[in-house]
Amino acid sequence: MIPLVDLTIDKKLRDKITKEITQVVDSKKYILGAKLESFEKKFAKFIGVKYAIGVGNGTDALRLSLRALGIGRGDKVLTVSLTSPFTAIAVVEEGAIPVFCDIDEATWTIDVADARKRIDRKTRAIIPVHLFGNPCDMSPILKFAKENHLKVIEDACQAHGAKYQGKMVGSLGAAAAFSFYPTKNLGAFGDAGIVTTNNSKLAKMIKCLRHGGQTKRFWHSYIGINSRLDEIQAAILGQKLKVLEVENKKRVKIAKKYKSNLSRLPIVFQKKYGRAEPVFHLLAARIRLRNKLIKFLKKNNIAADIYYPHAITEQPAFRKFVSDELPVTEMLTKELTALPIYPRLSYQNLDFIIRKIKDFFNVK
Ligand SMILES: Cc1ncc(COP(=O)(O)O)c(C=O)c1O
Repeated sequence: MIPLVDLTIDKKLRDKITKEITQVVDSKKYILGAKLESFEKKFAKFIGVKYAIGVGNGTDALRLSLRALGIGRGDKVLTVSLTSPFTAIAVVEEGAIPVFCDIDEATWTIDVADARKRIDRKTRAIIPVHLFGNPCDMSPILKFAKENHLKVIEDACQAHGAKYQGKMVGSLGAAAAFSFYPTKNLGAFGDAGIVTTNNSKLAKMIKCLRHGGQTKRFWHSYIGINSRLDEIQAAILGQKLKVLEVENKKRVKIAKKYKSNLSRLPIVFQKKYGRAEPVFHLLAARIRLRNKLIKFLKKNNIAADIYYPHAITEQPAFRKFVSDELPVTEMLTKELTALPIYPRLSYQNLDFIIRKIKDFFNVK
C-alpha cells in the first residue's frame, strides 16, 4: 500500500537521533535543559525571529500566545472553520470566543473581506491559518489587523519553512504557533510545539507561563500551564531541522509533478499567493467524485483521504459559536481530498499514483 504519509526515518538520521537520545539519558536532564535551549535558538534563527519558546504541542503554543497577549474571557478571536479543530480549541480553552470567517476559494485561507464584516468592539485578535503549508495573504491581514487594533497570531502548525514575500511564516505577526506533531513537515517522536516571536516581553511571559507561571523556582506570579518541550523531543527536532529544507524541496517537486500531470483533469489544486512559497504539508485537491476516487485508489493500493471531512462549525462541540453560513468552507469540505505526499515518496510510486488517477478519469 502506498500510504498517505510515511514516517520512516533513514538509517543515517536514525543513528544521529539515537545518539542524541543517549546523550539526554546520560545527562539525566529531561526537562528545560541544554537540548531545548539549543533547539530554540536554532529554530528562531531558521524562522528569522529573535525568540522561540518550546512548548508541549501546537495547541498550547496558540493558547500561550493568546494568554501572553492578554486575550481571554469574552474576547473575540477571528479564525477559520476549515482547519484542525485544535485551532479553535485553543481559543475556547482561553475563555475567548472563536469567530469563524469564510475562506478564499482559491487559496483556502482566511478571506479578509469576510473577516472585516465580522468584527465588533470585542474582537481582539486574528489567527490566520497557513493551511496545508500554504501561506495566507499576510499583507492585507496585517493591514486589517493594524486598522482594528487586533493582535495577529499565525497558526503555522502546518507550515514549517513556508515563505511569504521572502519571509518565513511564523515571523509575520505578534506571535506564531508551530506544531511538531509526528506527521508535520518537522515532526517530533511525540507531541511538541513552539512559539516564535520578535517581542522580548512576550517571549519572557510565554517562557514563564509554559512553566506554570513561575517567575522563580517555586514562586508563581501568574497562573500558567504545564507545557514544556522536553529534552528528548528537542534533541530529536534539532537533528530533524537539519534536513527540513531538503525535505520541503522534495515535497515541492512532488506537488509540481502532480499538478503538471493532472492539469487536464477535473481536479483543482490549492493556489498560492503571488510571492508565497508553500511547503505542502498535505497535497489536497478539490475533486467532486472524491469518494469514488478514494475507493478506486484504495483498490489499487494507494491511500487517499478526506481533509478535513468536517468544518469546525459543523461539529457539535462548536455549535454555540456558529453565527451564520460559510459558503466557501461548506463547498470545499465536500470536495477536498488529500493525495500521498512525503519526502520519501519515490518517483516510481508517484508515477503510479498519477497513472491510476488518470485511469479513473479515463484520461490518457
Ligand atoms: C492548523 C493546526 N493548528 C493547530 C494544531 C494543533 O497542534 P498540536 O496537535 O501539536 O496540538 C494542528 C495540528 O494538529 C494544526 O494542524
